[in-house]
Amino acid sequence: MSVIAHLTDVHLIESDARRSGGFGAAARRGFLNIGRPVDDGARRLSFAAALGRAMALGFDHLVVTGDLTEEGTVEQFEAVAEVLDEAGVDPARVTLVPGNHDVYARADAWGDALAGPLRLYARTSAPGSMVELSDLVIAPVSTTRAQRWWRSAGEVSSPERRSIGIAVQIAARRGVAAVIAQHHPPTRVHRAAWHWFDGLLDHAAMRPVLRAVESTYVLHGHLHERRDDRFEGEANPHIFGAAAVMIEQGGALRRYRVEGAELAPVEAEGAHRG
Ligand SMILES: [Fe+2]
Ligand SMILES: [Fe+2]
Repeated sequence: MSVIAHLTDVHLIESDARRSGGFGAAARRGFLNIGRPVDDGARRLSFAAALGRAMALGFDHLVVTGDLTEEGTVEQFEAVAEVLDEAGVDPARVTLVPGNHDVYARADAWGDALAGPLRLYARTSAPGSMVELSDLVIAPVSTTRAQRWWRSAGEVSSPERRSIGIAVQIAARRGVAAVIAQHHPPTRVHRAAWHWFDGLLDHAAMRPVLRAVESTYVLHGHLHERRDDRFEGEANPHIFGAAAVMIEQGGALRRYRVEGAELAPVEAEGAHRG
């Protein structure tokens, strides 16, 4: 039996002292944060509290499903690395994936982060890589695409789709669960126009990859709410979303038990807010 811990949507920002950018950056940050306070100290504390709770409860592997930062600047990825390091988590037991916010500064910001501030996490987090545990296979997936900061859609590249297919087949051969960690939910959850702004554009192409084998599960973020969803026509949930760490702090944590190729949420923790 293995336990997966799941956090998402940290939206870290750098401290005032390290902020750069001028009016354009200030306007972008104002738009991206409509309705929520921009406080770097509070967001660091939220992430630290969530990591602390995950570590106290224990896990075999932790996935953080994107929007790690507000805009994907080097300073913000450095802040992510600092909080992870201060929490004392073993990088070999952490998989990070990028969200739409993590590439607003530059389209290649995620690759640069994995070669720079987050290099200790590259082996378990690089798109196309795979983490093999005794009970499961984890495949980190990037749903990021080059787009302006007023759009928040996602997309998976075809080479990456092929590597997810390989991870799923390896898991099936081993008789274990495949866990796909990605930022955007893998199905259409919005009406058409809003889906173009905010949804996973190629969800239809992802479906055969994700449903080739029954014991494939998707952990995601982006919606900032805790959800258990089914693929269309299926009886059991295979899609699990977590609330945003930025908003719920330690209460955003989800944990899942993986046993006999099945993944199920550990529900007793749902009521906690901290
Ligand atoms: Fe987010
Ligand atoms: Fe997002």
